Amino acid sequence: MQAIGLNEEYLKGYVEDYELEMMKEKVMEAADMLKRGTGAGRDMLGWVDLPNKISEEEVQHIKECADRIGKQADVFIVIGIGGSYLGAKAVIDMLGSTFSNLQSLSARKHPQIIFAGNNLSGKYLRDLVEYVKDKDFAINVISKSGRTLEPAIAFRVFRLILEEKYGITGAASRIYVTTDEQDGLLCEIARKNEYEKFVIPKDVGGRYSVLTPVGLLPMAVAGIDFEDVIDGAIFAEFVYNDENFETNSCYRYAAYRNILEAKGKDIEVMACYEPSCAMFIEWFKQLFGESEGKDGKGIFPAGVNLTTDLHSMGQMLQEGKRNIFETVLSFRVDKSLISLPEVEKNEDELNYLAGKDIDYINKQAFLGTVEAHFSGGVPTMIIDVEELSPYNVGELIYFFEKACAISAYVSGVNPFNQPGVEAYKKNMMRLLKEGKNE
Ligand code: PA5
Repeated sequence: MQAIGLNEEYLKGYVEDYELEMMKEKVMEAADMLKRGTGAGRDMLGWVDLPNKISEEEVQHIKECADRIGKQADVFIVIGIGGSYLGAKAVIDMLGSTFSNLQSLSARKHPQIIFAGNNLSGKYLRDLVEYVKDKDFAINVISKSGRTLEPAIAFRVFRLILEEKYGITGAASRIYVTTDEQDGLLCEIARKNEYEKFVIPKDVGGRYSVLTPVGLLPMAVAGIDFEDVIDGAIFAEFVYNDENFETNSCYRYAAYRNILEAKGKDIEVMACYEPSCAMFIEWFKQLFGESEGKDGKGIFPAGVNLTTDLHSMGQMLQEGKRNIFETVLSFRVDKSLISLPEVEKNEDELNYLAGKDIDYINKQAFLGTVEAHFSGGVPTMIIDVEELSPYNVGELIYFFEKACAISAYVSGVNPFNQPGVEAYKKNMMRLLKEGKNE
């Protein structure tokens, strides 16, 4: 049984049956290209059967290192950017306890995870140096290419602190490198210094790499049951390979996106009513943005965290330019968490809700909003997921990875390259080399 269901009710009136029928052909063609490896970027399809290929040996390696890191560090700094950052952060936020990172270090079961190397802010780096310098910490530097500037800078800074603190050998035992098997500067550094190393397969691109050690090692250190995440993805690999378009929600989601775009809805707003999913939305934005946004094409991936953003972006969603469709990520409510207490004075006039679960109230906000947006001109898909569990998150990751690749093939672009990212880098390197604006 799929844990993910696609609710298409709020597309009524926006998508006609014949449009879906026509798009079905294109989607099935794209799925076939993916299966046979005949499309653009065919050398980057390692993610397609990745979940099934993760070896027991790799799982053991991750577990052993996670155990060692748990013993040697109170803080684990995960250095990486883009695909070498977002997936791990998304899953840890979704599955960990919301405030676990704020717990005192002595009370923690697992090291505190802090991400770095995902910006060039001096303030962020200085503050983090101040925070960790007197603590026991270890680092995981993640870069497939091995020479991305943001993580390289953070790695230099924290590596030096480790070496000053623990000596060269002590530091080496606290540095974990995730990179290409044999190429790149980082691979070379790991080899020369005998750092513990994890491999990102050559045929798996950054934004498709969350189910490699890029995501799995940080998850393991954070105490997430990453084997369950893998199992969910294995199931997804099987179930979203279903040739029957009618029952394959991944294919249908890809089809609807492209139909809506053709009708001028070229912004997809991913919405979720769980704050812990904010980073999953960021992961989704990167996946689709870097995969589809090229050759003058692409649906702009945006995101809102609800109900929070109803008080900031709600007006725009309800009555702004009608070029938006919404995809709501909805998790079946866990009713038992917390309910609203009854109070005798009722000064806040909330007793009409007394005894109701907060999640029930959240659900009513969600349903009311979907109806309002739908009648206000925003076609909406609801991705209905059973509880927020490691297994279901694994399924969800694979669902979006596959939907994204198919969607990009349908729109005629190579999902697996990112030539546009080079433009800013070239300018930045020129400016840095000229050294004019100091
Ligand atoms: O999806 C991608 O390929 C990118 O977002 C990369 O993950 C990102 O640029 C980081 O690259 P690297 O892992 O080589 O440092």
